[in-house]
Amino acid sequence: MTKLELAKKKMEHVDWDVTRRETVEVGGVLLTKQTCDIWDKIWAFQAKPDDLLIATYAKAGTTWTQEIVDMIQCDGDIEKCKRASIPDRQPFIEMVTRKTLPTGLEKAEAMPSPRTLKTHLPVQLVPPSFWEQNCKMIYVARNGKDNLVSYYHFHRMHQMMPEPGTWEEFFEKFIAGKVLWGSWYDHVKGWWEAKNNYRILYLFYEDIKEQPDQYCAHMRNNLPNWNPRHEIQKIMQFLEKELEKEVLDKIIHYTQFEVMKNNPLANYTFVPPEIMDHTISPFMRKGTVGDWKNYFTVAQNERFDSEYKQKMAGTSLTFRVEL
Ligand code: A3P
Repeated sequence: MTKLELAKKKMEHVDWDVTRRETVEVGGVLLTKQTCDIWDKIWAFQAKPDDLLIATYAKAGTTWTQEIVDMIQCDGDIEKCKRASIPDRQPFIEMVTRKTLPTGLEKAEAMPSPRTLKTHLPVQLVPPSFWEQNCKMIYVARNGKDNLVSYYHFHRMHQMMPEPGTWEEFFEKFIAGKVLWGSWYDHVKGWWEAKNNYRILYLFYEDIKEQPDQYCAHMRNNLPNWNPRHEIQKIMQFLEKELEKEVLDKIIHYTQFEVMKNNPLANYTFVPPEIMDHTISPFMRKGTVGDWKNYFTVAQNERFDSEYKQKMAGTSLTFRVEL
């Protein structure tokens, strides 16, 4: 049985009870009720010094980063990266799907070290042991406008996410921070501040998407607007990994959008279609910078900019909303 068949089979006999999740506030941040129900366990999670935590606001490029990190850790060995689906390779610590399935926490606990784990938690809700153990963390931030659009489509396709409402309604909820995992503004700012005191590599989706790089200039015709070499090298340095140029080329190839879109162990088609309906909007949707221009009205753009100015005042953090 292939790893994909295995990933699908695991989910076959599960009574999913596909309903849109109820949310509850933890410290002013909306989380699913299922996560809140085990919050004490999540908070008490015992991180180990060699754990690596990949943290993002939802839809900021988590899966992309996870695949890049896994490929680096596996020295570019594609077969090793096919050992399991993304959430089985790198458990999502606050995720609770069904009572009959292991939670992200249980998967993490059962995993041998060194572990790579995923979270969407804002910095103040990350279990304290990660800070106490001085774990390395990679945070990826995406500009708020594209993040909002991507999150809206994810709510539409994922039948266990809270009801998004109309585009206009979701837009307002996002700005108010009344969405799962809370305010995007607070999330990106909180992690930005934390990097001054902890081992956090803070990356931007837009930089991974396009980074001027001499070497790749000649490949532009084949790979327009896509040049993550520099950012992947940053991750390698952070992980203290040295890889041959050929291996890096391979990682660049296998983690580009079109390839990942067709990778069944990374594109979330292993999740039953009643839960993630890719016909509504695929998980690997567009993978671009600037798609917000296709959704924001002029008034919404002005509103976003004015809210942004207010909420991001005083931070040195800046974003590119187009390339
Ligand atoms: P879009 O909805 O804008 O297409 P996450 O993994 O945090 O849920 O983020 C999902 C977003 O990252 C989606 O954005 C998805 O298409 C994009 N993405 C996933 N893999 C990517 C890749 N290899 N290159 C660029 N974007 C990618």
